[in-house]
Amino acid sequence: MKPHVFIDRAIPDAVKAYLLERCTIDLWEEEDTIPRDQLYKRLSAADGYITAGRKIDSLLLEAAPNLKVVSTVSVGYNHFDIEAMKEKGVLGTHTPEVLDETVADLVFSLMLGSARRVAELDRYIRDGQWKRGDGENLYGIDVHHAKLGIIGMGRIGEAVARRAVFGFEMDVQYHNRTRKLEAEEKFGVQYAELDELLENNDFIVLLTPLTDATKGMIGKREIGLMQSSAFFINASRGATVDEGALIDALREGSIRGAGLDVFLQEPLPKDHPLLGLPNVLLLPHIGSATFKTRDEMAMVAARNLVAVLQGEEPLYLVPEFIE
Ligand code: DGY
Repeated sequence: MKPHVFIDRAIPDAVKAYLLERCTIDLWEEEDTIPRDQLYKRLSAADGYITAGRKIDSLLLEAAPNLKVVSTVSVGYNHFDIEAMKEKGVLGTHTPEVLDETVADLVFSLMLGSARRVAELDRYIRDGQWKRGDGENLYGIDVHHAKLGIIGMGRIGEAVARRAVFGFEMDVQYHNRTRKLEAEEKFGVQYAELDELLENNDFIVLLTPLTDATKGMIGKREIGLMQSSAFFINASRGATVDEGALIDALREGSIRGAGLDVFLQEPLPKDHPLLGLPNVLLLPHIGSATFKTRDEMAMVAARNLVAVLQGEEPLYLVPEFIE
């Protein structure tokens, strides 16, 4: 009998066809997230589950007694309760690599967009305020030749560094748990302690995964070390930053601006204080969201899942499950 798989989002036809040859599938294609009671019901007979961000905790696992694998269509897997999954013998897989260049592009969109005030000035035109084009009120800050500090020098960090060094001739520092000598050699980037990086750079890009160690790592103290002219870019996870402290800093002008793709609460509530700040560029967690990359991520997620269900080694087992 073919294994049974639940997928909580729309998937490309090619991925559907790939799965249908190997599994029976149950697909939730509604725009809204599947409600918890319905999810538990649909998972009750599932051997595999494809999601992207749904919290996998012991309650969910209890509702899914046959589950062997959860395959997330994302590189981040902070929504996995690893201990609970291990206890139930459920493996977790994810989709790194395939999205590196796409996320790096988005980081640059946030840097360029906030430094040159792209969304703010789009609103300025639409609001009928464009009287003349050469006033200082429209000026921004250069990205080229500026100083960039990258926190989290994984593959995406390297893709950002490559763009920064070879495309924009930026001066790049990085901070990482371990030094990346190869990246230092390839791109001419320099390792810095976190405080030094925060103090020294015009743009600070946060890319670190969310773990117990990185939760809240950019707090009031760290934001206080940044220059008043600095831009802070977050493409990691909302919880790596003290959002309240960031809002205070943006409000008081103790940093110049921010570009954010991730938030503590997503979707961002309609009355969220960030929405009232002109010096922050907001994106709805779309780091990897291009047609090509999302299609490829969905296929990688499907292959990961099928491999586990067929008793084979998946392409990308989440590191905590690798023995
Ligand atoms: C991921 O894959 O974890 C990214 O946050 C998606 O944009």
